[in-house]
Amino acid sequence: MRKAYQLGFSNVEDELVIDKLNVTGKLPNWIEGTLYRNGPGMFKAGNQHYRHWFDGLSMLHKFTFKNGGISYANKFLQCKAYHEAKENDKISYSEFATDPCYSLFDRVKEIFDPKITDSAKVNVARLGGKFIAMGEPSLQIEFDPETLRSLGVYTYDDKPKQHITTVHPHEVDEQVINLTTRFGRVSTYRFMSSSKRERPELIAHHKVKEPAYLHSFGLSPSYLILTEFPYVVNPLKIIFHAKPFIENYVWKPKRGTRIFIFDRKTGKLVKQFKTDPFFAFHHVNAFEKGTDLYFDIVSYPDPEIIQSFYLDRITSEEKKLPGGEFRRYHADLSGKKEITYRTLSDEAIELPRFDYNHYNMDSNYQFVYSVGVNKSGNSSFYDQIVKNDLKTGEAKIWYEENCFPGEPVFLPAPNRKSEDDGVNLSVVLDEKNGNSFLLILDSVSFTEIARAVIPQPILFGYHGNFYQNDQ
Ligand code: CO
Repeated sequence: MRKAYQLGFSNVEDELVIDKLNVTGKLPNWIEGTLYRNGPGMFKAGNQHYRHWFDGLSMLHKFTFKNGGISYANKFLQCKAYHEAKENDKISYSEFATDPCYSLFDRVKEIFDPKITDSAKVNVARLGGKFIAMGEPSLQIEFDPETLRSLGVYTYDDKPKQHITTVHPHEVDEQVINLTTRFGRVSTYRFMSSSKRERPELIAHHKVKEPAYLHSFGLSPSYLILTEFPYVVNPLKIIFHAKPFIENYVWKPKRGTRIFIFDRKTGKLVKQFKTDPFFAFHHVNAFEKGTDLYFDIVSYPDPEIIQSFYLDRITSEEKKLPGGEFRRYHADLSGKKEITYRTLSDEAIELPRFDYNHYNMDSNYQFVYSVGVNKSGNSSFYDQIVKNDLKTGEAKIWYEENCFPGEPVFLPAPNRKSEDDGVNLSVVLDEKNGNSFLLILDSVSFTEIARAVIPQPILFGYHGNFYQNDQ
């Protein structure tokens, strides 16, 4: 197996606290704050392997920029799935695509009381001043932003065992809005809104027989956008846990993709479109111009991308990952029934980011940063960072042989001269040196400014966010 995959899909043994990372290059002195990242820290329990990229047990990382230096710490998310895997030396909770090996007795018990993972591994968010590690099962874990220690469970909704949530909440006007799916004989998509003081409140909902797998949703100034791909599940299979979570879903392309538009104020379904079948994880941005609604999304012709993240498939290197097509959908809400799209880039992208704090729902937003697979490289996994200019249609690439960058988080420079004046932060696995580094890219030229070296590899991760000290 390629060394990068041995490193990136293994176990991190050490929880480190390093006051000052070795930095090459010159750090911009204006960066102050902390990048928190979430992702797998462990793909093996005893001699059992998790099967899928989305299965590994959560590890949190923090990179704090202070006084011209960067400190680093990492810690496993303290949760039952982690503790039991360590204690029993075996996989003990159901993850995205891996179940524990059951005895017949356990199998029966599992039907009535499934041990769904509480390893909230996919993203981090700050909700009402609390730092939360987020996973798709509705159990989220609050952590201490200083020590990364777990502080307890946070839930969006009651009966968390019968729910899943997206790990991409929107934050707007001091409200955090998220989309959950409640499984039942009739299932419900539920948009929840929470503010600092209140418990989450239901702001829109839609009943459905066979819910789809939804990883994100769109938000525009007036609307909630639910893009329902025809990758759907008989909800009883989730409730009775027939198979590992994602393997219960079925691709039914004949259904097409349905797009539901809800009014944010009234919660009413104002428009519904049906279009060709496609699948996506990530909505990017959405905005309105008069009665025209636009939303950007990284799409695939089918859910093959999920299959392609099984570890045996990545590490066999037989196929490249399917490329995410960056699309802009346009709907005229004044009456037309059609919804159309155009492709925004020739480059395939995934893990898209933009300057969310300043350009969310803004039709003038111009730059999107993401990862991709280099066309002339020899990798079957993400190995480059892409910057898309939506005005010119051009793309800039950061690529270095045998390096595997993760999601590039953008930070604007103070008093910037253009939208892209700032840096991107990306954790890069360095195959040659057998460790990882934090790459600091100049976002305008898309060239390296500095890198901070971590003395061990960081496994291939998912999402993270940067928080300034004074926010
Ligand atoms: Co995501």
